Amino acid sequence: MTILKKIENFREEEERLKWEGTFADYLELLKEKPWVAQTAHSRVYNMIKDAGVEEANGKKEYSFFKDQLYGVEESLEKLVEEYFHSAAKRLDVRKRILLLMGPVSGGKSTLVTMLKRGLEQYSKTDNGAVFAIKGCPMHEDPLHLIPNHLRKDFQDEYGIKIEGNLSPLNMMRVEEEYGGRIEDVLVERIFFSEDKRTGIGTFSPSDPKSQDIADLTGSIDFSTIAEYGSESDPRAYRFDGELNKANRGMMEFQEMLKCDEKFLWHLLSLTQEGNFKAGRFALISADELIVAHTNESEYKSFISNKKNEALHSRIIVMKVPYNLKVSEEERIYKKMIQDSDLSHVHIAPHALKVAAIFTILTRLKEPAKQGVDLLKKMRLYDGESVEGFNTQDLEELKNEDPDEGMSGIDPRYVINRISSAIIRKQLTSINALDVLRSIKEGLSEHASISKEDRERYLDFISVARKEYDSIAKKEVQKAFVYSYDESAKTLMDNYLDNVEAYCNKNKLRDPLTGEEMTPDEKLMRSIEEQIGISENAKKAFREEILIRISAYARKGKKFDYNSHERLREAIQKKLFADLKDIVKITTSTKTPDESQLKKVNDVIARLIDEHGYNSVSANELLRYVGSLLNR
Ligand SMILES: Nc1ncnc2c1ncn2[C@@H]1O[C@H](COP(=O)(O)OP(=O)(O)O)[C@@H](O)[C@H]1O
Ligand SMILES: [Mg+2]
Repeated sequence: MTILKKIENFREEEERLKWEGTFADYLELLKEKPWVAQTAHSRVYNMIKDAGVEEANGKKEYSFFKDQLYGVEESLEKLVEEYFHSAAKRLDVRKRILLLMGPVSGGKSTLVTMLKRGLEQYSKTDNGAVFAIKGCPMHEDPLHLIPNHLRKDFQDEYGIKIEGNLSPLNMMRVEEEYGGRIEDVLVERIFFSEDKRTGIGTFSPSDPKSQDIADLTGSIDFSTIAEYGSESDPRAYRFDGELNKANRGMMEFQEMLKCDEKFLWHLLSLTQEGNFKAGRFALISADELIVAHTNESEYKSFISNKKNEALHSRIIVMKVPYNLKVSEEERIYKKMIQDSDLSHVHIAPHALKVAAIFTILTRLKEPAKQGVDLLKKMRLYDGESVEGFNTQDLEELKNEDPDEGMSGIDPRYVINRISSAIIRKQLTSINALDVLRSIKEGLSEHASISKEDRERYLDFISVARKEYDSIAKKEVQKAFVYSYDESAKTLMDNYLDNVEAYCNKNKLRDPLTGEEMTPDEKLMRSIEEQIGISENAKKAFREEILIRISAYARKGKKFDYNSHERLREAIQKKLFADLKDIVKITTSTKTPDESQLKKVNDVIARLIDEHGYNSVSANELLRYVGSLLNR
């Protein structure tokens, strides 16, 4: 579909969704779709739920967050269940400000933005539809029109509980525009939009001295006072503060704890009582989710201030810690790179993983559990199996320290270091070592890292580097063995022929000359030694293989390269040992001969075709592995 067609479709869709009618029509509609009268909190919860919830091993995973937030499922479950779900049921948490607390660049803003964009979309669906009094700057809930003394009857008839009072402006409009007939008041469907300031707001305190409460609660429009005669005429008031505009939806409160107290009290009254004071009017009812975010140190200094004591119990703090899984951290980097202007640069395989290993290590707390070190913990957290530990151990480890994940290196730092390496060195390709080097260089410039942490972090860089060494060796080995599948087969057949002759005390026949030969002990040992089979154990090993072969034969199965795991490993290692010599030559000054050169080129081609390298990074890898082998 062309973009013009899409634009047209979009416009048609918007037209189709529009609805306008009288309050009487709206009441009819409510009979059919009572959920449209739900509270803001309930709408947010249903939005998350409607996107899909997967349950596995007693843990919930919400599809709503899946595209953008990785590896923090447990915190999200807590947030959704303990806050949104309870708030949707009108439990007391709804009356508290939601404060997301987490380390820098840990995804707090991302989370809030997802909720905002999600609500905009959700308000266009049937389940998320929202209706409001037409022409009201606060898109007031039409049910506020029902007078207090009739609300009990309304609830009996419709099963819907009404909270909040009609605003002074609409009270006046009902009289002036509709002659007091509430059933005639026009109601329309609204669509949340932060750009159009409908149902979604963001408040970000500027300089505390010049900060004006009007940004939050609206202000008198002096130009209209003459027309309406008085400051207390609601028509002379602009209900255009962030709290007004976010009514029915949500408001993000940035830097809440840096804000002047008087702002906080407005918020508290709003969350607590469902209303706030604006101008010279009676309290104004509003129904909205207020989300603020902060980091831990800011929060700590906030609660240690006696002045704020009364506020504590009115705020619900939800932790948003860092992700602690290496593979998810790698995904985070990939996403951030895709969203940046680095996406054209070739990033060698494992470069991001190695960076992630470093990052996760900085976030983990030293395990108290017996027999677990930081690396093992890291592997367990990432879902790898570690010998001697099970899922229960994993849970225990996770519960050791509630502060785990609240500190360490943030993802943005890593991305910045990658991009600075690329820009500074004008690279078109970057590998794991470049990344680690750049991360290391950055540590000394990083202002907020203590000397102690820096020492620890330098250690982690070495650990990550060692991990990379082993990954790199394996990678080359794999590429080499695969491109020599044939050689592997030949080598194995050769070995098996010899083993058979050895066990049966037979001679072998040379295929060319037909001459009889004794089994080639040197060849067999060169393979067996690869997996540590001693001279004493060789006989048992060879017999075991022979038994395996005959067991296969009896079942009519072919014994091949993959039929015996240890044998396969031995063959691969033997081939790799041969490769070592070749790789060593490529990194030494000696010029390789033609057949060696061909082998090297085959490995490089394999790395490029099958393992995601380009020619620069494949050559770098080979050279690096060569230098490791030369040590
Ligand atoms: N768990 C995570 N999953 C996916 N992306 C993340 C995660 N944590 C951080 N990020 C990414 O890191 C960057 C900084 O996150 P941000 O939401 O601005 O953090 P905060 O507001 O907590 O400082 C964003 O690009 C964000 O997408
Ligand atoms: Mg942020």
